[in-house]
Amino acid sequence: MPGGAIRESGPRGLLLQAQGYRVRQDLPRFYNSPTTFLTDIGTVGTMSRVSIPKFLFFIAVSCTSQAFAHSWGPAARATGAPGDDSKACTSCHTGTLNSGSGSVKIILQSGAVYIPGVRQRVTVQVSDPAKQRWGFEMAARLNSKPETAQAGEFTPVDSQTQVICEDNGPRPCTTGVTFIQHTTAGTRNGTQGGVSFQFDWTPPATNAGPVTLYVAGNAANGDNNLTNDNIYTSSVQLNPVTPVAPVVPTGGVMSAATLVPGSVPPNSWVTVYGSNLGATTRSWNETDFANGALPMSLDGVSVVLTVFGAPRLAYVGYVSPTQVNFLLPVDALQGNIQVQVRNSAGISAPIQIGTTANSPQLLTLDGKYALGVHADGSLLGKTGLVAGAASAPAQPGETLTFYCTGCGATTPATISGLVPTKSSVNTLPVVTVGGAAATVTSASTITGSPGLYQVNVQVPAATANGDQPVVIRLGTTNSVSTLITVQR
Ligand code: HEC
Repeated sequence: MPGGAIRESGPRGLLLQAQGYRVRQDLPRFYNSPTTFLTDIGTVGTMSRVSIPKFLFFIAVSCTSQAFAHSWGPAARATGAPGDDSKACTSCHTGTLNSGSGSVKIILQSGAVYIPGVRQRVTVQVSDPAKQRWGFEMAARLNSKPETAQAGEFTPVDSQTQVICEDNGPRPCTTGVTFIQHTTAGTRNGTQGGVSFQFDWTPPATNAGPVTLYVAGNAANGDNNLTNDNIYTSSVQLNPVTPVAPVVPTGGVMSAATLVPGSVPPNSWVTVYGSNLGATTRSWNETDFANGALPMSLDGVSVVLTVFGAPRLAYVGYVSPTQVNFLLPVDALQGNIQVQVRNSAGISAPIQIGTTANSPQLLTLDGKYALGVHADGSLLGKTGLVAGAASAPAQPGETLTFYCTGCGATTPATISGLVPTKSSVNTLPVVTVGGAAATVTSASTITGSPGLYQVNVQVPAATANGDQPVVIRLGTTNSVSTLITVQR
């Protein structure tokens, strides 16, 4: 299936999938940085939620009373949505809406869309340079009746948010609309500049037309009072997109590194080309990982592998209508695997591929030139190889870092389904440059980059100028040949 029109092709797609990768001076990580990633998954929660009888106080208390604490969560209908108090939080907090120098933002994984019934992660970001305590409340309403028609359902994913009913009590709600809002822990008193809240929203199970999320955020000064806080509002309309049953043609499943159909090794990235695969287009991102576990579906798209009659799910790194990238698990059994793409409208007919150990492939920049970096982290390649990025050819004798997928077992073992840390391979691969054996100094998995390995290789001193083939091998299986440009 390679060739044809430009697509989000395998190697490129894989790089695009490397979230935040812009041909930078560091590794092609799947996350902006491991630190960001760890911070993010650190917030996804195992903390048990403490239930507080929070709204009892409100029943008889007027807004102007400051005798009762409120930082544990606002009253219902304070989002500024139609049907809610139009002053939002400023019905109690002093000041004018949206007059500070901060903002509240709604961040969605796949843009302003929803797939009926498919849960999605929502991030609310409240920021203000001068503030240090944070709160929010969000509503989801059908555009057809925004004052009273609840759209879908909110679900907290950690201890920083909670859901309340229209009557200010906890779920189940007897009637009316619902709200998600901060908890006391979520206000993170003392955190300067801003915070994010994350939670899930499950849209209506069937197409209910456009839906709008409304949010009000409080950038507060942390004085447990109603003065000198800045209140912001924002909203976003989400339009429904409806999946269609996926179709994968024969030959549509191949190594993501080479785009050549054939056997693929465990712990390698595999690409599926077809039609109607996903209803959205995106790579995985930090919000798809819970406690370091790789996602088994993105926007409702999963990949079902069947080995010896036993089905299991692969890890999905990229979805679009025409392409899905998945990671074959480290512990995938060897033999013939049936691959099927599933979404909420159906499942594709099985396509059989072979799995064999010891068939690593090098990642390329363009399907031809190997993706590599020099010892100083700068990009390998003849000048102009990647538009807008500086690159330099290889010098004989220098040590380069290449990236491969499916490069074998490691010690400590890489654990299926978890974000890896750096771990050396048990057997160093053999690498040839220009047909001559090169010294491989080390090879390991990469912290934070599932399915990718880095291999450090010394270019043989006698390598001639010009484009030279680079091949990697474990055991007896050669990778597809890639190129590097050598210039002494
Ligand atoms: C019904 C009145 C009322 C409404 C409406 C209201 N608040 Fe408050 N809020 C209070 C009171 C009273 C306090 C002070 C007591 C406290 O901090 O516990 C407070 C304090 C806070 C604090 C801590 C402030 C600080 O500086 O320490 C945050 C954060 C907060 N509210 C968020 C919100 C958000 C977000 C909204 C709108 C979605 C909102 N509140 C709407 C009454 C209200």
